[in-house]
Amino acid sequence: MKSSSFTILLFFLVSSSSSSSSSLLQASINGLKHEDAHIKRSDFPPGFLFGAATSSYQVEGAYLQDGKSLSNWDVFCHSTGCAENGDNGDIADDHYNRFMEDIELMDYLGIDSYRFSISWARILPRGRFGEVNPAAIIFYNNIIDNLILKGIKPFVTINHNDLPQELEDRYGSWLNPEMQEDFLYLAEVCFKSFGDRVKYWVTINEPNMYIYLAYEFGTFPPSRCSEPFGNCVNGNSDVEPLVAMHNMLLAHGRAAKLYHQEFQPTQGGLIGLVAHCYMFEPLTDSELDREAAKRAFAFNVAWPLDPAVFGEYPEEMRKYLGSNLPNFSLEEKSFMNNSIDFIGINHYSAIYTKDCTNSSCSATGNRAIQGFLEMIGECDGRLIGERTGLEYLFVVPRGMEEIVNIIVTRYHNKPMFITENGYSSPDLQEQRVNELVNDVKRIEFHTSYLASLAKSMREGADVRGYFVWSLLDSYEWLEGYNVRFGLYYVDRQTLTRIPKLSAKWYKNFLTNNSVVIDKSASRGNRLFGKDVI
Ligand code: BGC
Repeated sequence: MKSSSFTILLFFLVSSSSSSSSSLLQASINGLKHEDAHIKRSDFPPGFLFGAATSSYQVEGAYLQDGKSLSNWDVFCHSTGCAENGDNGDIADDHYNRFMEDIELMDYLGIDSYRFSISWARILPRGRFGEVNPAAIIFYNNIIDNLILKGIKPFVTINHNDLPQELEDRYGSWLNPEMQEDFLYLAEVCFKSFGDRVKYWVTINEPNMYIYLAYEFGTFPPSRCSEPFGNCVNGNSDVEPLVAMHNMLLAHGRAAKLYHQEFQPTQGGLIGLVAHCYMFEPLTDSELDREAAKRAFAFNVAWPLDPAVFGEYPEEMRKYLGSNLPNFSLEEKSFMNNSIDFIGINHYSAIYTKDCTNSSCSATGNRAIQGFLEMIGECDGRLIGERTGLEYLFVVPRGMEEIVNIIVTRYHNKPMFITENGYSSPDLQEQRVNELVNDVKRIEFHTSYLASLAKSMREGADVRGYFVWSLLDSYEWLEGYNVRFGLYYVDRQTLTRIPKLSAKWYKNFLTNNSVVIDKSASRGNRLFGKDVI
């Protein structure tokens, strides 16, 4: 289809907006160049879940309301300052008090499922050392019941970066095996309280990314690291990430075992683990860089997934890390093995990988904990893909098909969900609201990534769902509120939600089967007719 026809079609799709905004939208859409391709909801199998995702600290706010205690993020943000500009999640999107309004937004979109996470400090303000907070149970019950009333399936992550500060202060949270007991207790409370209605569980979101930031680079709480990774007061970047991951994985495994034995037989749901999954591409065609790309997969994606599927750490990690890499006992292996019913894939970007075993690299690339490799976004001055609002994420739609295919091969086509995929536009500060709402680039992003996903599924990948990150603009960790991923714009003063063009696109995609995209997405570094490297 020619770009002019695309313009007309997209104009038709958004014609439900007010006339002033539709002319504004029209003006923006005129800039689009599209080639001939279509993606429709019907390209995905019946029962495939289309959804949107959030996480507790990023949207809930109400940081001390109704018995919630301080979480690690509350304390981190209030003491050292989490985002450079002083933003924090005290109020966030006030989803705690506005969840009914937000469920209406989901209903408008027509999504099948909503992925959200449980605030541990809300449910168990003192971990297993205190009582369950009844107000928190009521809150999550209200969300779950009202989703179900609208025909939206709850997809619940038990832990997404936030935990009660008490567990940090008492025994050092994930560095201590005690944390396994606390997580198991939290999981049990969740299965007992919500499992009659929740049929999709994720134990932990992105252990690989969380641990890398919290214990290797020390930029997330508890801010632990050592030289050359950062300048923290305490920590050991070469060893602690491995210890913290081990406890996290065992916590996952124990919770999954409990679910499989005690709850799944009667409740009939599924449980999985979510990994942050870059597509790693070799920087050059050399054998060493190609090996580095494989190693990068092992040290990042397979680090949590191999134990959850096979009960063992990847061989490549064992080779480079030796005895620093913990072992699973026979008993642990037996419950880790096959501990997930599905793999959750958070995919945003591809990244180049450079070998450091045989060429000069930065001080961090030269370390075993990094797999002796470096990840970089550009090669000879050319970016791997168009820039986004986060400097380490680039638009490379072919990466979706490629990473899914690698995961299919390694894990024998275990069922998968794309638990996050999303776009934040660069340089948002200078932009006005109407520019932010007119998010044509976000539509291009999702359509091209969906086309790439559909391609892997046509080749046989067993993918069961796709969640847009995110439903709402929300608190983006170290970036505060400057980076916006939402289908809905959230005004920081009034917290009013305004549908972006992408919300209207998603609604139409889900209901009309008539969205146009660019087939070249999975062919190379071309996006909508333009070279992007
Ligand atoms: C995390 C989200 C985060 C998103 C965008 C994912 O890795 O799970 O919490 O907002 O990336 O940075």
